[in-house]
Amino acid sequence: MKILVLNGSPKKKSDTFRMTEAFLKGLNRNGEHEVHIIHVIDKDIAPCRGCFSCWMRSDGHCVIQDDQNAILDLYRNADVILWSFPLYCYAMPSHLKALLDRTIPLVQMKMVREADGTVRHEALADFSKIHTLVICGCGFPQWQGNFDGLKLMCATCFGNPDIVCVPEAPLLNIPEAAIVADPLLARFEKAGEEYASALSLSPETVAALETPMIPSEDYIRMVNSVS
Ligand SMILES: Cc1cc2nc3c(=O)[nH]c(=O)nc-3n(C[C@H](O)[C@H](O)[C@H](O)COP(=O)(O)O)c2cc1C
Repeated sequence: MKILVLNGSPKKKSDTFRMTEAFLKGLNRNGEHEVHIIHVIDKDIAPCRGCFSCWMRSDGHCVIQDDQNAILDLYRNADVILWSFPLYCYAMPSHLKALLDRTIPLVQMKMVREADGTVRHEALADFSKIHTLVICGCGFPQWQGNFDGLKLMCATCFGNPDIVCVPEAPLLNIPEAAIVADPLLARFEKAGEEYASALSLSPETVAALETPMIPSEDYIRMVNSVS
């Protein structure tokens, strides 16, 4: 399988990417897949100009000459797209959002109504074979209210992807927290294995990955002790 990984953390030592790396390790355990990792912060991706030239040309590319067109080529040829990023202001970081905005050359102006009543732009080609997975880490200890907006946006943009939202993610890069972080990373490895065979994650697996590593009150106390 061709796996395109879009790493949206701007940090060299990303909390979220530790989970993604463990996931990829598990994914490749029983057969090596072609994994292409893009560190989006290092790419030259301008914001969308809203000119809709892409819809006039309909060739699957953007008129802006930067790194995005090469990413669009990888995007449409991928079997799996893994979006890995930290939660920023209840959404994805802006440099990654620029990349997402500029995937509109992959759809056309023409609108179609889905069976569930929603209206979408028709895809340029059949991208229904592409599986999307989102791994998002965040700094707050709770899930409720924190990830709701992101989850809705991902469900709408990607057509109900597998999405894993992990609270307390900074613990993943604190050496003293290894006792709780390592078991989570082991669960991500197992989840990668599961994904390689099923191309999806069971609700039980997602729940196990999203379970906070430590009780929220302990986490808040720990954060406040260093702030
Ligand atoms: C600009 C900014 C906005 C953030 N917004 C949120 C937020 O809305 N909710 C949250 O729980 N954490 C938020 N965080 C915390 C990060 O999601 C958290 O530190 C995460 O572990 C960073 O992951 P990374 O190391 O993979 O980049 C924010 C951090 C930054 C720098």
